[in-house]
Amino acid sequence: MAYKHRQVIDTIPPYKQGKPAPIASSQRTFKVSSNENPFPPLPSVREALETQALGAINRYPDMRGWDVVRRIAEEYAAYGVRPENVVLGCGSTEVITQLVNLVAGPGDEVIYPWRSFEAYPIIVTGAGARSVQVPNRPDGGHDVEAMIDSINDRTRLIIVNNPNNPTSVSLSDREARRIMEAVPRDVLVLFDEAYFQFNDAPDANVAMTLYGEFPNIVVAHTFSKAYGLAGLRIGYAIAQADVVEGMRKVALPFGVTQSAQIAALASLDAEDELMGRVESIKSERTRLFAALRRQGWDFPRPYANFLWLPLGRGTGEAVKCFTEAGLSVRAFEGEGIRVSIGEPEANDAVIAVCQRIMAGTAESGLPRHPAA
Ligand SMILES: Cc1ncc(COP(=O)(O)O)c(C=O)c1O
Repeated sequence: MAYKHRQVIDTIPPYKQGKPAPIASSQRTFKVSSNENPFPPLPSVREALETQALGAINRYPDMRGWDVVRRIAEEYAAYGVRPENVVLGCGSTEVITQLVNLVAGPGDEVIYPWRSFEAYPIIVTGAGARSVQVPNRPDGGHDVEAMIDSINDRTRLIIVNNPNNPTSVSLSDREARRIMEAVPRDVLVLFDEAYFQFNDAPDANVAMTLYGEFPNIVVAHTFSKAYGLAGLRIGYAIAQADVVEGMRKVALPFGVTQSAQIAALASLDAEDELMGRVESIKSERTRLFAALRRQGWDFPRPYANFLWLPLGRGTGEAVKCFTEAGLSVRAFEGEGIRVSIGEPEANDAVIAVCQRIMAGTAESGLPRHPAA
């Protein structure tokens, strides 16, 4: 149907959700396409939902999410964070949307690395602003100098994604500081740290360490990844109180459910147990990386809960191999494949299929070298 609408919306690429595990009766299949946490919900989180949340779903949630907000402020009190510096959203996706809607509209520009989180162009275009996508360095890291060179009078926001989705490359403290020192003080910089708990790079930046020094920093975190609450949709940002106030004005009213808030609080209570799970995902990542390196793969060392195979034009064929092996992965046609770290059996299957791809059988027609 022809209907009157904002033409710019026609330019938005649809978000491609990671596919579910392939259906196969002959083998176990796995979803390693959405960077989810492979562990099931913690018993304590389940119990909190059963005892506190289910009976209250006829009521609207606390719109400000004070209990969670206060708790997060306590966690970051050492950095000078107070409750008025914390804002919740339906996942960090909504937090990022709030921020973009607050600062950028028609005629304004938002700078971010590319390839990166695929929601960025959707959110920026949806706000009516223009995306300035700065190509990553060949190793998949942010091209910090090119990002700085892109700043002009129209710039309203710079997004840093650390570690970067999908390349899994970590941003160093030196690079983060370089960005902050170059950006005008009245332009906000968003550090999207959805995967920071997985980042053990020795020189990794943790944006909160710069927060006290640079008031124009906004840090976005999520309960979806390390905390395993992707299905409940809750994330948060830490920023100056007036920025938080502005974000609240454009937030989806009642967007963060009480169930999500209860699960977030229970997860914060179980922090040690959850960080233990993060450690085991990291050790699986180390095992995968070492195995693939031994096979001859050449790709950046991963610092999030996924790895990036820069297969270039071999991507489509390789995806078929993964699917046949019972694995759904996230393909970026012509660029590469992002594989989440999953259950040990899923990771074994990834190692086996990567071996086959690397062998480059005549039938598959794949190049021997992943970046060829
Ligand atoms: C870089 C990055 N930021 C933010 C998010 C948003 O996650 P959520 O909305 O579930 O908090 C994701 C999810 O995949 C991501 O990869």
